[in-house]
Amino acid sequence: MHVYSAPAKIILFGEHAVVYGEPAIAAPFKTLQAQVTATPAPPGSGLSILGAADGLALHVSLANDRPDNALIYAAQLVLRALGKQPPDLTLELRSNIPIGGGFGSGAAVSAALMRALSAALGNLLSGEALNSLVYQVEQLHHGTPSGIDNTVIVYEQPVYFVRGRAPETFKVGAPLHFLVIDSGVSASTRETVSAVRRLYTADQARYGAIISEIGALVRSARQLIETGSQLEALGELMNANHALLRALSVSSTHLDQLCAVARAQGAYGAKLSGGGRGGSLIALIEPDLAPRLSAALRQAGAAQTWLMHLA
Ligand code: PMV
Repeated sequence: MHVYSAPAKIILFGEHAVVYGEPAIAAPFKTLQAQVTATPAPPGSGLSILGAADGLALHVSLANDRPDNALIYAAQLVLRALGKQPPDLTLELRSNIPIGGGFGSGAAVSAALMRALSAALGNLLSGEALNSLVYQVEQLHHGTPSGIDNTVIVYEQPVYFVRGRAPETFKVGAPLHFLVIDSGVSASTRETVSAVRRLYTADQARYGAIISEIGALVRSARQLIETGSQLEALGELMNANHALLRALSVSSTHLDQLCAVARAQGAYGAKLSGGGRGGSLIALIEPDLAPRLSAALRQAGAAQTWLMHLA
């Protein structure tokens, strides 16, 4: 029995604009993990995927070539890439990553499952091959994903990501501490990405300008992260990024309120993270602020918070 895992991810700057070719910055968030255990099954029983928490039970065959289930699709992609038939194997999933929370849950589960299955077939997928297969599953979840989630989750490195280019990693000049906040509202990234697309199509001049402004802000944020000194300035960039995301219609009253609470309690800055209209937020803080800020955020309706260090 072997366990394979993949972490959640947090987008620090640039979500949504990244779909339009602007850069974004993201990092793995290893406190939250998807894990898949592979156990040999009796001969003739075929390939099953079980959900430890939710009683999910799926059987994988190669017969259906248009599965609407992302887990079956992920398993089929591995079998096809390796030219294999389904083995007699049980894959059991466990994940503490909130679904629809902007943490890349789908990509993390796919990556862990594909690692487990490919390893059981004697050919552990890594790096580029795994990244490209996880991206294909992301297309089923999201429609037109930029590729940032699968890249961060597969390589488990902070990235400065531009769609269609090889991901760059970057230097962190001084450790940064973020409070990661689950807003408690689950939201569909496919829907928020489509909502931004509709706005952009209807008024390219206006929304294209907002998207370019986000891109410029991400480039400044990278410089500040690399220099590692001006936390106030970096926090201001987070606030500005949040305001631009609101202008793209992907914030919500609840997310705006949670950001306001974080700033009022002394965070350097706060923004939504990921698809928006729910999901997660991040606040840049001094680590000793975490207990007080977490309590205030929970009182304002946040579901959970975690401290994340970027070093
Ligand atoms: O909601 P998440 O965590 O999957 O993040 C999506 C990030 C977007 O920029 C909104 C979409 C994308 O494909 O990059």
